[in-house]
Amino acid sequence: MMNKASLVTLAAILSLTPAIAFSQKAKTPPQDMHHELPKPTNLQVLPRDIPPKELVTLMRGYAGQLGVKCNYCHARDEQTKKLNFASDANPQKANARTMIAMTMEINQKYLSRIKDPDMPMVSKVECGTCHRGHDAPEAYIPPPEKPEHH
Ligand code: HEC
Ligand code: HEC
Repeated sequence: MMNKASLVTLAAILSLTPAIAFSQKAKTPPQDMHHELPKPTNLQVLPRDIPPKELVTLMRGYAGQLGVKCNYCHARDEQTKKLNFASDANPQKANARTMIAMTMEINQKYLSRIKDPDMPMVSKVECGTCHRGHDAPEAYIPPPEKPEHH
């Protein structure tokens, strides 16, 4: 049976553990943590007033849907050894801008006109609709046609 003093000690240790874990983590912050990110300064297709947190959620979505990391589109700053998110030095960022604009246009201009009562949830395309976890979408090869009996 634990006495009161050791229970208090245990509680103190337990309550400290997350703080220790966090401070160890903080020494090597992952580059994609939103509280590390400054306010966006170079948005050309996304809404300029998008909250930074929402922007990062969106960016993580792009990365996941293409099966890449942030550095696929963002250039590294040689001096700071960190990604410079505002920089346009990585040519894939321009490709991605074109793709973002295309995806927004598909959704706003075309898919908004399709009303499918059977599939109310599938109302828009995302990067992953075409990319499916790859940076370059794979070609769809239809299965061979079955011989028809006339
Ligand atoms: C598929 C390409 C792609 C990937 C992957 C990607 N980004 Fe981006 N990111 C962009 C594009 C394109 C823009 C600029 C959008 C615009 O012009 O409106 C941008 C802009 C940003 C900005 C705003 C920079 C500024 O100051 O204007 C931040 C911050 C950012 N990305 C963070 C991230 C993080 C963090 C990751 C990884 C989780 C990531 N990005 C992954 C394409 C990408
Ligand atoms: C309608 C289908 C479709 C959607 C939606 C789509 N893409 Fe693409 N994307 C393509 C195709 C097809 C290519 C290949 C073009 C080529 O290689 O000429 C491509 C190429 C790219 C490339 C260049 C890859 C390379 O190999 O150089 C990037 C980056 C990219 N897309 C990012 C995105 C992002 C980010 C989104 C979501 C905002 C997106 N795409 C949405 C079809 C799509």
